[in-house]
Amino acid sequence: MSHTTTYDQRVMQSRVMLFFIVILNVLVLVKTQTCQGLTQYSQCSSNPGCRCLKLPGDTNAGKCSFLHVRCSELSSCFGKNQACLQPDHVCVQHPQCQVHPLCYPISMTTNTMCPPIQEITTATTPTSDGICEKAVWSRDGITVAGGNGIGGELNQLDFASGLFINEDDSSVYVADQANQRVIKWDSSSKNGVVVADVKGTDDGIFNPVDLAIDKNGTMFICDYGDHRVIRWPLGVSKGEIYISNISCAGLMIDSDQFLYVTDFGEHRVSRWHIGTNTSEKIVAGGHGRGSDLDQLNSPYYSFIDKDRSVYIADHLNNRIMKWIDNAQEGILIAGGNESDSELDQLSFPTSLVVDQMGSIYVTDTVNNRVMRYLKGKKEGIVIMGGGESGDKSNQLSEPFDLSFDRTGNLYVADMSNYRIQMFKIDKSACEKFHY
Ligand SMILES: *[C@@H]1O[C@H](CO)[C@@H](O)[C@H](O)[C@H]1NC(C)=O
Ligand SMILES: *[C@@H]1O[C@H](CO)[C@@H](O)[C@H](O)[C@H]1NC(C)=O
Ligand SMILES: *[C@@H]1O[C@H](CO)[C@@H](O)[C@H](O)[C@H]1NC(C)=O
Ligand SMILES: *[C@@H]1O[C@H](CO)[C@@H](O)[C@H](O)[C@H]1NC(C)=O
Repeated sequence: MSHTTTYDQRVMQSRVMLFFIVILNVLVLVKTQTCQGLTQYSQCSSNPGCRCLKLPGDTNAGKCSFLHVRCSELSSCFGKNQACLQPDHVCVQHPQCQVHPLCYPISMTTNTMCPPIQEITTATTPTSDGICEKAVWSRDGITVAGGNGIGGELNQLDFASGLFINEDDSSVYVADQANQRVIKWDSSSKNGVVVADVKGTDDGIFNPVDLAIDKNGTMFICDYGDHRVIRWPLGVSKGEIYISNISCAGLMIDSDQFLYVTDFGEHRVSRWHIGTNTSEKIVAGGHGRGSDLDQLNSPYYSFIDKDRSVYIADHLNNRIMKWIDNAQEGILIAGGNESDSELDQLSFPTSLVVDQMGSIYVTDTVNNRVMRYLKGKKEGIVIMGGGESGDKSNQLSEPFDLSFDRTGNLYVADMSNYRIQMFKIDKSACEKFHY
């Protein structure tokens, strides 16, 4: 009997221990993420939706907070010592909402919501595209399409604004807008091959500004002039209207075969089921024209990453926005100040791509340059063009769209030079080990 009691006691003790360990774990889990020494809104977590919100009256301390809480849901801190009347709230500075400090829900600042940043670096290197921070691109581009002046011959382009690279063979599909055609260029061929043109539309209107090709080889084309998306199977001479009444200014297909369409006139991006041509939801903008975080102003091309975050060139706001899946508003990624040419400014950007490290590449159209922003950096690096507009190999003239091939070479639609330029990547500085 006494034997059993001792046994029971031991079980009891270990249960009590276990209970405390669990409690301790829970306590550790709900610990808030501080961001000591970081500036307001800088990245503080491997969750890109989290940013550092400084505490009022303390220049050093801050809380790493998930930013997707609507400003209207936050109330001002109270009194001289900036108290929060609601339980489980902490007083922080959030000038994007209002100047006066606000009470932020503690649940949005935990380290489960905003895990520490160390996790990023280990999780993202090496990346499958092989692009690292130290990668560089040639400053001289190689013309892979057009480049023979303005015109409608098969070796020419006329205001080619959008491009799509076939990952398998690096052939280049170009939305050759003023020639009313989509033209395909195989690598190293002098002439392109027309794969869709105005003869294949019922009403004789075709103003392609962008295209994407799905897994089945079907093209989806933004026919901006007639406010529609056209579906055009490859190798067929006729397209069909797929979505009408939409001022399509950019489209992209993600790896799950959803189609994302930018509606330039409605200032939003929507997601479509390819099979059924039904709109599933608005994924960016949709709150009218404007410059608030939940608005866009005349957006162009977008990029969708593997987490279904939508990056969008918010053209007339001179900025790049990122909308995390299901977010109510976007995060400012680059630009957002007056249109000018400082390294933290953009001038009417039209397109962007994101590599697997999260670096962003933007066609800064009116500055005649391509910018690269390392993850979390507000200041970019000029990697192509810059300076005067011109048609030398190291110059660009109103670059309008860009895309990677599988190895990381960058293709740029150099619109006002009537050519597509390819800039070779040099990844030699990325290799960690030298034998
Ligand atoms: C797309 O949907 C509309 C109705 O919403 C339909 O009339 C049209 O035929 C569809 N087009 C295709 C290509 O499925
Ligand atoms: C076209 O789209 C706009 C914006 O979504 C809408 O207000 C309008 O009713 C649509 N027109 C037609 C004919 O469907
Ligand atoms: C590809 O084709 C198959 C068979 O016709 C179809 O079931 C599927 O929905 C298509 N996929 C896309 C993304 O269009
Ligand atoms: C805009 O520019 C001002 C002054 O140069 C600078 O203080 C501010 O941080 C910039 N804002 C953004 C969002 O880049």
